[in-house]
Amino acid sequence: MEIIINEKQKANIQQAANLIKNSKQAIAFTGAGISVESGIPSFRGEGGLWNKYDSNILSLSRFYNNPATAWIKIKEIFYDFFGKAKPNAAHIALANLEKMGLIKAVITQNIDNLHQDAGSKNVIEFHGTCSSMVCIQCGKKYESKYVDLKQLPPHCSCGGVLKPNFVFFEEGIPSDAYKNSQNLIQKTDLIIIIGTTGEVMPAAYLPQIASNNGAKIIEINPQKSAFTNSITDVYIDLKAGDAMTEIMNNIN
Ligand code: APR
Repeated sequence: MEIIINEKQKANIQQAANLIKNSKQAIAFTGAGISVESGIPSFRGEGGLWNKYDSNILSLSRFYNNPATAWIKIKEIFYDFFGKAKPNAAHIALANLEKMGLIKAVITQNIDNLHQDAGSKNVIEFHGTCSSMVCIQCGKKYESKYVDLKQLPPHCSCGGVLKPNFVFFEEGIPSDAYKNSQNLIQKTDLIIIIGTTGEVMPAAYLPQIASNNGAKIIEINPQKSAFTNSITDVYIDLKAGDAMTEIMNNIN
């Protein structure tokens, strides 16, 4: 399908392609917007989940106080379509850029596993993942696809309640993800930011630290974000799939 782009978008796409080709340690930083074209709603903005649901359902204290109630919404939002969403052209483009040696890793705020499904190998899940669950009593881990969600809350063999392995509000960032992201951020010379409002800390500090260290910032988002007028060097106001398709056409 023909992608309609204007002269300014075309120039920015060419500039982005050149930056990617000439970078030494490029990484991608993604948010919910990269998965919207895979049918997964974003959290904020038009059609965002937080317009429909109270974001407090992801408060850690609320989960511990009443896991049964919390699990009803968690299942509805994150697991009822779990596994049905497929990677889109943007996820696939990032996986190809990794194969071409043009990006070193993806740091994602997303918990949908779509980067891995697209073939990306070095993915840092800064907010954890939907794909596994952990017992809050004994710490045993389970793959989500094998957990029966007909009875809520799901239980561990020890009798404890299972919690999805993604980061709830009031919960810390997984230590490995935090450490690995910081290492990459210190070394990167280019960040491709795709589909994030840049409003949630500490994730949104990562591109800012890189920019302060001199890294160039490419941003893909149909709407401006907290990054656009502060750290973004090349802003492409297109959907992720269209922008990454055009960038790949300019690289190949
Ligand atoms: N292509 C690119 N960007 C898009 C697209 C698209 N097709 N559709 C929407 N967007 C953009 C929106 O303009 C918005 O800026 O994606 C962004 C989605 O923003 P959020 O929903 O706030 O998602 P994100 O920034 O990833 O949220 C960060 O907040 O609730 C927590 O833990 C949750 O990881 C999440 C964090």
